[in-house]
Amino acid sequence: MRIFLKVWRQAGPRADGELVDYTVDSVSPDMSFLEMLDVVNEGLIVRGQDPIAFDSDCREGICGACGFLVNGVPHGPDPGTTVCQLHMRRFKDNQRLVLEPWRAKAFPIVKDLVVDRSAFDRIIQAGGYTSINVGGAPDGNAIPIPKPVVERAMDAAACIGCGACVAACKNASAALFTAAKVSQLAQLPQGQVERRGRAIAMVERHDAEGFGSCSNEGECEAVCPKEISISNIARMNREYLRAVLL
Ligand code: SF4
Ligand code: FES
Repeated sequence: MRIFLKVWRQAGPRADGELVDYTVDSVSPDMSFLEMLDVVNEGLIVRGQDPIAFDSDCREGICGACGFLVNGVPHGPDPGTTVCQLHMRRFKDNQRLVLEPWRAKAFPIVKDLVVDRSAFDRIIQAGGYTSINVGGAPDGNAIPIPKPVVERAMDAAACIGCGACVAACKNASAALFTAAKVSQLAQLPQGQVERRGRAIAMVERHDAEGFGSCSNEGECEAVCPKEISISNIARMNREYLRAVLL
């Protein structure tokens, strides 16, 4: 396959950026998207040019490190798929692809396709710890939790913190991310002691980081590689209201 790329190149946070054209020949349909970029970078390095900076780590869809826009869609065209799991067979020979970093005030560009997502870390930090009476090793079934509750908590815990929800949202809101983190603990017995303070601190940290408000567009759920449901945002709003009113 031959692929025509337009890639956002920006040398640093304060530098001007621009879209730069690259033609990639001999792309195997079995390559992952990031392997295709590795090949582009090897060519750039051989020619003494600066390789394209992009984030990745596990390349298995579990760490949340990767992510950029492919033709305007966070993580590209496949639902429930991170860009590291996307394969070139998904595209056509001679296809044109535009690659851009997440665009959000709270995610400043570091270089090329890499953005600073440390705002997410600070939201999680604001959530603090959970108080658990450790005692002796508890029996696995000592705290019975109904299966539907466990499933809902685990579905929320699947969030990998990639930031695609922010990139897809016209308000650059991180409501889906924050809601997933609030929801995973609010529903379990282990998360009850700090439940009220956690909801308030995480929502307030979200706003302080410069993320926008949620206006129920649903774009976040549509692009989320872990298919986190926006019902978690409704739960976060209930948790927050309950915390400030009671
Ligand atoms: S909610 Fe989904 S899109 Fe947002 S950070 Fe978590 S995994 Fe990524
Ligand atoms: S590199 Fe870990 S999720 Fe993509």
